[in-house]
Parts: sequence; structure tokens; C-alpha cells
Amino acid sequence: MTQAQPADRNLALELVRVTEAAAIESAKWQGRGDKNAVDQAAVDAMRAMLSTVDVDGLVVIGEGEKDEAPMLFNGEIVGNGRDPKMDIAVDPVDGTRLTAGGMPGALAVIAMADRGSMYAPGSLVYMDKIAVGEEAAGSIDINAPVAHNLRQVAKAKGKDVDEVTVVLLDRPRNDEYIRQIREVGARISLIGDGDISGSIATAKADSGIDVLMGIGGSPEAVTSACALAALHGEIQCKLWPRDESEREYAIEHGLDLNQVLTTRDLVDSDNTFFAATGVSSGSLLRGVRFYGKSVETHSVVMRSRSGTIRFVESTHRLDWLDEINAID
Ligand code: FBP
Repeated sequence: MTQAQPADRNLALELVRVTEAAAIESAKWQGRGDKNAVDQAAVDAMRAMLSTVDVDGLVVIGEGEKDEAPMLFNGEIVGNGRDPKMDIAVDPVDGTRLTAGGMPGALAVIAMADRGSMYAPGSLVYMDKIAVGEEAAGSIDINAPVAHNLRQVAKAKGKDVDEVTVVLLDRPRNDEYIRQIREVGARISLIGDGDISGSIATAKADSGIDVLMGIGGSPEAVTSACALAALHGEIQCKLWPRDESEREYAIEHGLDLNQVLTTRDLVDSDNTFFAATGVSSGSLLRGVRFYGKSVETHSVVMRSRSGTIRFVESTHRLDWLDEINAID
């Protein structure tokens, strides 16, 4: 245990109100085919609810650069300005496409850690990733062949390699991973979107997922690291430039494309907070349910200093939502 510090209160318990608000507002757009409206609703709700939290927050990881979606901007100051000073990573909806398309597995997500602790990937929006839960932590190496990593994970979990399940984003850029995983004989769970949920699944005993591999979003890597720090899991990443101009950008900005970014490099803190609320139902959380005058949400709250994981079921009154909307 580290020494008690000003941020010792469990901020994640306050952050869950932020993700609940984002989930409720974005869920109103479920299946309506408008990705930007999903994001905008979540961003507005997050920003409004964050203004009520006692924190001097700096958004280090915003979302939206990749596809010019509405976002909380990098460098934006949020919270009510009182101490503690914290870095913030947000993904107002991880799975905007899923929500807009009426599909399962979308989450509203926020993470916080001590000021100056979060890795800023600049405009490099993708990273190559490998993530595992506690049992296999310490046994992976992103620079090693896929076969080696899968055997290592199998060994650490006391399984045969054909009993290992790998979760990956279903993208052409991950096809080579899929080929190699099949060659080794492990199982695959392909997801359309949402690799924060995929990373967390590796650390949940009942998820059936052992390891996350493949190329996904950089913001999601930092956010996942905040959760995995609390879950005693491990994530390793490398920046993945899409083209020559991103390669040049990395050089100009001193970003080392060969560096293995460990959990600690992604978030250098013993005090990470993570909160997520289901927007649409998935393997981790149930989605928002509207009924009568009420709305139900299902969230998870984590803190790395204590390692406490809480699942929070909340019932909100619809008139409560009007109050949120009234916050300017
Ligand atoms: P958003 O919904 O926040 O845009 O992210 C969804 C997501 O699937 C992430 O979970 C993942 O890391 C990233 O997009 C992958 O990027 P892309 O969709 O461009 O392949």
C-alpha cells in the first residue's frame, strides 16, 4: 500500500454518475443510425456531470480525433476546479457504431489518475495491443510471436493452447493475427467494436476470454490500462502508424514506434480510477433499460490502490434526467 494522498477518496464512486449520465443520454439514440448524435449526447452529459465533481481534471485522452466525432478535447479542463489535480481519459461511448446500429456491447467510460501520469499518444490513433488478466500477467511479450504468447498464456492458466480464447477487433488489419492464432489452434472471439470491454474481459474469470490481441484505438489502450491496473492484469502496446505521414509525425514528436508501452507506461500511477456504464447490453454490463418513469443502469467501478471492483445497479427517475439537462 502506498502512503495516503489527497486523492485517497474513491473518485470512481463519483465518476460512475458521469458514466451513468452519458450512457442514459446516448442510449436514447440506440439504433437510430446516427453515430454523431450518440457521441454528442454522451459528451454533453459527461461534461455537465463532470462539472459537479470535486476535481481539477485535465483531459489527456479525449475521443473523436480519429473520426472527427464530438469529443471532450485533449487539454480541456473539467470538474469544478477543486483539488485533487488529475489526468482524465474519456471514451464517452466505446461503441458508438454499436449504439447507432442497435447492437450490443457499448459502454460509456471514464478513467482518472494522478496529474502527469497518463501517456499521450498525440495524433497516433492506433496501437498494437496484447492484454491479459492477473493469472497470465508477466507471461506476455508483444514483441514475441503470437504462438509464443498463446502458449505462455495457456501455461500460466493451466490450460491447453486450444482452450485459450483470444478476443480481437474484426478489422482487416488484424487478419494476420487471426491467421496466426488459427495456426496455433486457439479459439477466437471477434468483436465489431469495443476493445476496452475486450481488455477487461481478459481479467474476468467468467468471461471465457483469456487474451486480447490486435490493433485498436490508442485512447482505448490508456483507458484499458487504468482498468487493468485495478484488476492486476497487464497490457502491452506499441504505437501503430497508419502511413508514412504518421511515421513522420511520431519522429517529429519524439514518439518511439519501437517502444513497448507497458501498463505502467500507459498510466504511471498507483491510484487509477475507472468507471463504465453499459449503454447496450454486453458480456460485461447490461445496457440502459427505460421503463415507466424510470431508467436502470448497470456499471462497474474500479480503483487500483485498493483493487476494489464494484458493480453498481442504479434506478434513476426520468425527472432526474431533466435536472442533468438543466445543468449548463
Ligand atoms: P468508438 O466507439 O469510441 O469510436 O470506438 C470503438 C472502437 O471499436 C474501439 O473500441 C477500438 O479501440 C477502436 O474503435 C478501433 O478503431 P476503428 O473502429 O477505427 O478500427
